[in-house]
Amino acid sequence: MCGIIGHVGDGNAVDTLINGLENLEYRGYDSAGVAVQNGSGIAVQKRSGEVDELKASIENVSLEGNVGIGHTRWSTHGPPTDENAHPHTDDTEDVAVVHNGIIENYAELKAWLRDRGHVFTSETDTEVIPHLIQHYLDGGLDNEAAFRRAIDELEGSYAVTAMFSGEHVLYATREGSPLVVGIEDQEFFLASDVPAFLEYTDDVVFLEDGDVVIVDEDGIEFTDVDGNPVSRETETIDWDPEQAGKGGYDHFMLKEIHEQPTALAQAIEGRVDSETPAIRLEDFRNGTFDGVENVQLVACGTSYHAALYGSLALNRAGVRATALLANEYSASSPPIDDGTLVIAVTQSGETADTLNALRRANADGARTLTVTNVVGSTAARTADDALFIRAGPEIGVAATKTFSSQVVMLLLLAQRITDDARGEPAADLDALLSELRRMPDRLDALLSWSDAEAIARRYDGSQSYFFIGRGLGFSVALEGALKFKEITYGHAEGFASGELKHGPLALVTPETPVFAVFTGREDEKTLKNAEEAQTRGAPIVAVCPDGHRAVDVADAHLEIPETHPALAGLFANVQLQLVSYHAASLLDRPIDKPRNLAKSVTVE
Ligand code: F6R
Repeated sequence: MCGIIGHVGDGNAVDTLINGLENLEYRGYDSAGVAVQNGSGIAVQKRSGEVDELKASIENVSLEGNVGIGHTRWSTHGPPTDENAHPHTDDTEDVAVVHNGIIENYAELKAWLRDRGHVFTSETDTEVIPHLIQHYLDGGLDNEAAFRRAIDELEGSYAVTAMFSGEHVLYATREGSPLVVGIEDQEFFLASDVPAFLEYTDDVVFLEDGDVVIVDEDGIEFTDVDGNPVSRETETIDWDPEQAGKGGYDHFMLKEIHEQPTALAQAIEGRVDSETPAIRLEDFRNGTFDGVENVQLVACGTSYHAALYGSLALNRAGVRATALLANEYSASSPPIDDGTLVIAVTQSGETADTLNALRRANADGARTLTVTNVVGSTAARTADDALFIRAGPEIGVAATKTFSSQVVMLLLLAQRITDDARGEPAADLDALLSELRRMPDRLDALLSWSDAEAIARRYDGSQSYFFIGRGLGFSVALEGALKFKEITYGHAEGFASGELKHGPLALVTPETPVFAVFTGREDEKTLKNAEEAQTRGAPIVAVCPDGHRAVDVADAHLEIPETHPALAGLFANVQLQLVSYHAASLLDRPIDKPRNLAKSVTVE
């Protein structure tokens, strides 16, 4: 997830572009750059770091032009360096491009272009676009035809904006990534999100997949891929700029909960073969996982709950795996041998406890891998290999979308590890992957019909909130309770359902609602444990599909769709995220910044 801004107008575009990038920093903040037509060609200025770094660098150069593009980056290919920052240009700097999304076939395109003499200066997937355009310009096509021909060859999801040397025109297209046009008289904006230009105009046109727009000082042409005119409605947006940064939601946390369908689609993009049941993860520096005999997953907080989920998936796939709290890792001294893979699961890639565990694993000779959201993070650089979850920036302190994306990556990784060891895919891989492909749409639907707000209201003011589950449902119960305590400040606990009778039942009263998570395996036992709590007066909220036996027994129901047992917990977790969010909202808590907590904990 990155931020794009483009501007065509009378004055100097640079200030507008920088302003737009500042407004878009929530979409990515590891590097930023701009390119403008400055009379003698395209001038590019770009820097790793926040937009402030770019601003400081611009003070020392004279950058002017009334047409320009800008980008704020959230890395998916290549760490945040000046070279990897956008805009990217071709060898001759005839064309500059900014891009949001993932070009799935970039490796093939890059090899093809290299064979034809193109020299690449970055590690990004984006850089193939200007080179491809240049290839077609060299072949005699004009700017528009070269742009159209190049985008025709891209596979994946993208929003792209390009400009050509000496021409006061922007070309843009989208496929699976958002792009919106802003219009104010003869001034035009292109952006990945409305807040980029909301202070200049509230008249917008949302582009659709496959649209190609051509913008110059005289107006905008909306066409389809083949150049046929299409008509697009202009809408007037009534968001205030602060709300707009949150996409119209009251809090970043709610926005990020709603971003989960997109985040999951991005996590699996290009990694799940659509034809055969196969997983195509990145090439790992250390090759395949065929020598891996046992896996230790180290993590903290929400990431630990994802690791717990992942460890169970690995065990079920036949690989010995244990999830360990990173801050307990050195005290627990788990044995490491040649067959040990240590996986650090960390959204930020900067959590001190997790980094220490990772360093210890490296020192003890384990093979190491990190599953993280931040390309170029310390964890990504410290581990032998890195797998990026591509969830986009998460601003709310309480982790939401990154949990779901981490779990999905760990499910894919579990399959890849067992495939490498066995030499053939797991028996039910086809079923898992087909459900996984449906998941973004089904999650989107769940977010529209969820009853979580009503449930939060119904149990508002309770003394304590308990969350129970078994197997994958246990990790979801722990995560449900952590989210609830973090943002409501209410007392919440997560338990393995079977553990209730070994002590916690003493706490159960009519004032302690129990959220019971059913994931489709051993549900009868979980239901029995829930009934044991109900007999002692606790109201039961069953988190399960409609038609499940628990619905008849429970006092309330939070519905999830019927799905593969490995994915049911993810749907349940989203329902519980919403319950916590609405419970905290009723209490008027500072949801995005709960007291005493930080997004990234860089101390032990
Ligand atoms: C809870 C939360 C924290 C983090 C933990 C690890 O909502 O966000 O528990 O999960 O601090 O952070 P990362 O994943 O950055 O290592």
